[in-house]
Order: sequence, then structure tokens, then C-alpha cells
Amino acid sequence: MKLTPPAELLPGDPRFGCGPSLIHLDDLSALKDFGPHLLGTSHRKAPVRALCGSIQQGLRELLSVPEDYSIVLGNGGATALFDMVGLGMVKSRIVHHVCGEFSDKWFKASKRIPWISAEAQRVEYGQGFSEFVTAGADVVTTTLNETSTGVMNTALPQVGDDCLLAVDATSGAGQIPCDLSRVDLFFFSPQKVFASEGGLFVAILSPKAKARIAEIASDSTRYIPAFADWTLVLSNSEQQQTYNTPAVVTLFLFAEQLKRMNALGFAEVQRRAARKAELLYQWAQEREYLSAYVAEPGLRSTTVATIDVDARISASKLIAYLDAQGYAHGIDGYRALGRNQLRIALFHNIAFDDLRKLTALIDFLVASGEFAA
Ligand SMILES: Cc1ncc(COP(=O)(O)O)c(C=O)c1O
Repeated sequence: MKLTPPAELLPGDPRFGCGPSLIHLDDLSALKDFGPHLLGTSHRKAPVRALCGSIQQGLRELLSVPEDYSIVLGNGGATALFDMVGLGMVKSRIVHHVCGEFSDKWFKASKRIPWISAEAQRVEYGQGFSEFVTAGADVVTTTLNETSTGVMNTALPQVGDDCLLAVDATSGAGQIPCDLSRVDLFFFSPQKVFASEGGLFVAILSPKAKARIAEIASDSTRYIPAFADWTLVLSNSEQQQTYNTPAVVTLFLFAEQLKRMNALGFAEVQRRAARKAELLYQWAQEREYLSAYVAEPGLRSTTVATIDVDARISASKLIAYLDAQGYAHGIDGYRALGRNQLRIALFHNIAFDDLRKLTALIDFLVASGEFAA
């Protein structure tokens, strides 16, 4: 294939994946300066604890976390929390709102715990929730941004005093607004908007969630594996520590990203995200060979854009070419959806100008006729 795209169409940074996402490499140089006093030192000592404290403080500011909520950090990513909710928060019944592969994985994790009952309320993929089922549940879940479909669920279920609302915010936190005063557990991993490495989780807990943790922990007949011990996660986090040994590089990158985002403020972060989303969805609307996968404009994500490609063009050939040439990495649709689709991250560190170049580059490549299905 002989194609020479004009240099002005080539993005400055090729990382457009929906997580892990674009990490600022300058942060690694800064890390080198701190190296001898941080990397390879104990997470129970002041330097690493200061890093955890700075993440907790940075999140409190950016996400307007209510005073009486706790911010805890632990190992295992959001997937660990899928199990930790069922094991340590559900009394007897959890209702999951499922609209894609990640919300379904969470439901399946709860389903495997024999001593609780788990129910799934489903909509077709590509759709989101405006109505919720909460009756009979003591925990209700929703997913702020379904990374597999690019659906953003900003509406929240209204739950009663005896029920917790748990929100998986993995690919939305920090960029998609959410009123935390209405949420009992808000969790995510930092390798999306927060541009760090994977493997860590953040859980933000309301007083109601903390009371539930204590209630379940006091039941000596309940099996709670050591890794899922919420009471230890909570007490360690009060001392700016993770439950067990963390990856310090991950904490460092996370803290640096929070400084960058707080310097702008959440309103500006959101404004930039909305501008990038508008660029992508407008492009999809104006091109005859493209269409937005999420039909309802209000549900289209401002962090993950999913765009269907006409059947006459092979999205997979196009994606493979962009990847092999080093022009754009990670823009494949979610595999289990099996669609002829592009999925492009709009995370904070991805530049508007690079997205503009990427769309123009794709137009150029499609016009060449080399990517017919
Ligand atoms: C919505 C959502 N939930 C959970 C996860 C799992 O996160 P992790 O791989 O950090 O466990 C992901 C990962 O992409 C996600 O997008």
C-alpha cells in the first residue's frame, strides 16, 4: 500500500486509546528527580504517604467530594471492587443496571457470590438508563460511562435510606459530572482520565457506605477474603496509606495529573471535553461513511466516542494501518461488540488539535480507496 499522508494530518501524539491512556512523559523526568527519596521506599513512610495524601486532597477538590466522605486507595483496579461490593457491602440483594460489557462483568461478579442475590436490569447496548429499578435492593448499581459502548449515564437512581447507590465511574471520573452527595460508593481506576497506570483503585465512600461496611464486617459468619477487607482499606487510607504495597510510579503519575487538572478547575476540564466530543460527533454526522453508534445525543460520552463505519469500508484494516504506521494507537471498537467501529478516547490529555488531525487523516485514508471491505 503506497500512501503518503501530508505531514499536517499526522497527530503529534498517537495515543487515542480508551485506557490505558495518554500519559505525559514529562512526568517521568520529574519522577527521576525525586527518585532516590521515593522509588523503592516504604509506603508506610512519609514520602509515599504524602503522595497518597496529595491524591486524596486533589480528588476532594476536583470532584467536590463532601467532607464526611472517605477516599480510599487500594490495589486491584476497578475489577477488584466488582467483587468487594458484593462481598463487603451487599446485605442480601443487589440490582445492577447493565448497558454494556463492563456493567455486565460487574453483574456476573455479584452473581457468583452464593449468599447474595443479584439481578440485572438491561437495556440494549448503545442505550442508557433514564429509569431505574431499586425495589427490594440494598445496593443498586449504575455505570457513569460504559467504556465498551460510549454511553454516558449521568442520570442517577434515587435510593432509599436502607439502600446504597454504587457507581462504576472508571472511564468517566474527573471529566463527566456526577453529584457525589447522591452516591454512596463512587469508584474508578486511574488509567483513563487520570492518565496514570492501571492496577490501583480509588473508592469514594459516603457515611452510609461506611456504616454498611461496619455492619457487614460485624457478622462473623460472613466470609470476606483478606484482600476484600474494607475495614482495613478504610483505616489505612485515614493514614494516607494503601491497604497493601502500591506501585509508587502509578501514585506519582496520578498526583501529577491531578495537579494539572486542578490548576484548570473542573468546569474548564468539562468544557474542553465537550469541545472534543462535539468535534468527533459532528465529524461522524457530516461524513457519509460514518455515524455515531449511540443514537441519543444526550447519552453520547464526552470521554469515549464510538463511531460506526459504513460496511463498504473495513474499520479493522484502517485501524491496523494507523497502528502499524504509528499514527494512531488503540482506536478499535470494543471486541465483544463485534462492530465495524472506531472508538476514540477524548480523555483530558488528548489534544483537541490531535483529534482534528486524526479525523482529517482518516478522511484522507478512506478517500484513497485502499480500505475497502
Ligand atoms: C467501566 C469500566 N469498569 C471497570 C473496568 C476495569 O478496570 P480495571 O482494568 O482497572 O480493573 C474498566 C476498564 O476499562 C471500565 O472501563
